[in-house]
Amino acid sequence: MSDSGKTYTTDDLKANGTRKSMYLLLHKKVYDVTKFMDDHPGGDEVIVAEAGQDATDAFEDVGHSDDARELLVDYYLGEFDDTKATAKKATSGAAKAANSAVASGSSLMYFLPLTGLVAFFAWQHYSGSA
Ligand code: HEM
Repeated sequence: MSDSGKTYTTDDLKANGTRKSMYLLLHKKVYDVTKFMDDHPGGDEVIVAEAGQDATDAFEDVGHSDDARELLVDYYLGEFDDTKATAKKATSGAAKAANSAVASGSSLMYFLPLTGLVAFFAWQHYSGSA
């Protein structure tokens, strides 16, 4: 197991999705299975099919044995870094907040003159009847 602390992104997965160099993403961890592919009892095709994406569901659906899970240790590269996706979510959250601020600002823009107008007519009504 490596403890270099290096993290891998979706770009890394996409750049290493061929038989020459194959990274696999399982449970937020990245594995280099380039050498293992040929020895995989399930064949290399199924691994190629998971290239560049999260293979966790496919891996779990098969119901791999404990022996299979122990093999993973040998191919561990590092943790998966999904902060890019998180950053996108944060930006859209901030954008939403900004939008709603603008929306409430504009409704105030209509509300204030309207209050003034109502006050004006009320004043006219009462001063006229006095
Ligand atoms: C590094 C990742 C993987 C390792 C170490 C691994 C290991 C193994 C091992 C040891 C077996 C034999 C049965 C067992 O012990 O459970 C197996 C079977 C199998 N694996 Fe994987 N596997 C990996 C990834 C995947 C992925 C991503 C798929 C995608 C669908 C997959 C599909 C299969 C299938 C379909 C079999 C059954 C083969 C059969 O019994 O005919 N494996 N795998």
